Amino acid sequence: MATPRTETARRAHIVGWGMAVPERVLSNGDLCAMVDTSDEWIRQRTGIVERHIAGEGETTLSLALRASQAALEVANLDPALLDLVVVATITPDYAFPATACLLQDALGAERAAAFDLSAGCSGFVYALSVAAGMIAAGDYKHCLVVGAETLSRITDWTDRNTCVLFGDGAGAVILEANGAQGGILSSVLGSDGSGKELLIQPAGGSAQPASAETVQARKHTVQMDGRQVFRFATRIMPDVSRRVLSKAGLTVEDVSLVIPHQANDRILQAAARNLGIDEGRVYSNLSRYGNTSSASIPIALCEAIEHGLVKRDAVLLLTGFGAGLTWAATLLRWSLPLPVPTPSRRMTFWRNLRYRWAQLRSHWRRFWRNVDARLFQILYDEEGRRKR
Ligand SMILES: CC(C)(COP(=O)(O)OP(=O)(O)OC[C@H]1O[C@@H](n2cnc3c(N)ncnc32)[C@H](O)[C@@H]1OP(=O)(O)O)[C@@H](O)C(=O)NCCC(=O)NCCS
Repeated sequence: MATPRTETARRAHIVGWGMAVPERVLSNGDLCAMVDTSDEWIRQRTGIVERHIAGEGETTLSLALRASQAALEVANLDPALLDLVVVATITPDYAFPATACLLQDALGAERAAAFDLSAGCSGFVYALSVAAGMIAAGDYKHCLVVGAETLSRITDWTDRNTCVLFGDGAGAVILEANGAQGGILSSVLGSDGSGKELLIQPAGGSAQPASAETVQARKHTVQMDGRQVFRFATRIMPDVSRRVLSKAGLTVEDVSLVIPHQANDRILQAAARNLGIDEGRVYSNLSRYGNTSSASIPIALCEAIEHGLVKRDAVLLLTGFGAGLTWAATLLRWSLPLPVPTPSRRMTFWRNLRYRWAQLRSHWRRFWRNVDARLFQILYDEEGRRKR
């Protein structure tokens, strides 16, 4: 159910944030035992030292849920007030239904619309832009935007060209509509499908449905032309960044912090050079997480906030690129005083109760659906006519 429109100007402001990574850490040293590589090569060519890998039972949903609950805690918001849940991911729990629907159910976000968004590693910025647009249009007041991935599940652990790069994790933000100055200022999104084969999971879709052959040929894993993606990334990041700045009437000098997609430190350095911004204003946590695709920007944002790098009125530039090919940038002015007050125990207790209730409600609904189906069979014939 959408929140009724109001006449006041509405801007989308980030009022909550959270992240989650699996406990298990896979170091470069661990990878050396799996493929022909070295800690030195991985560090020098990518900047990655370790990454987190989902354990048994952990999925994109479970990471998204933890990140979302943390974000709701910061925002001190009852999940029942969410109007929209968007999950940016290329590794959903299922091809369908959407992971966003599973998240909506697990949170007890009873009145929220929910959908997944697939735009590769640009996914989170795409989702942020879509949700901010819906807020600006007056349709929604509170939106949960998540980037969540378990790339380890589609990684070919025998391919040294790709397996050293990726990690698992999730990041989430709560967007709130209000009339205050700042918030999301502008967004630029782009795509070029002619680059589809540069970064692709070839099988499992309608082009190559899953079969014994596709599994044997490892076609359900990430295939990548690293050099071409590298070239594309170093050009597109500065380009889309300049365009989003110009759209908002700002310049590179106005940017307090760039939070880029974390793919490769050399890409970040080249992009910073091309953009004319010093590396001190470009956030990087690549060494600890690797490339977590659509989760990388929200995770980096959470860390930048926690490390005190985001101040009130700071201008943040979020910029990413990825499979598609896609690219995206969003510019925002931070409007929230930091640190945010710790929510009262009562509110935290209430939220936890809500999550428990959501679980019970979900079980009950499934149970009732079965009873309902049984009753229908008893009371109605195959044409849907009431039996006499
Ligand atoms: C993948 C990437 C790290 C490779 O780095 P690079 O410097 O371009 O390396 P190259 O592909 O030119 O390979 C150089 C050599 O290293 C080897 N190599 C590749 N991976 C290796 C590894 N893990 N360990 C050791 N050697 C490796 C290659 O086989 C090649 O050997 P060769 O010269 O004998 O053929 C880099 O291209 C990259 O980061 N690309 C972008 C990837 C990306 O961001 N993807 C996600 C986008 S969202």
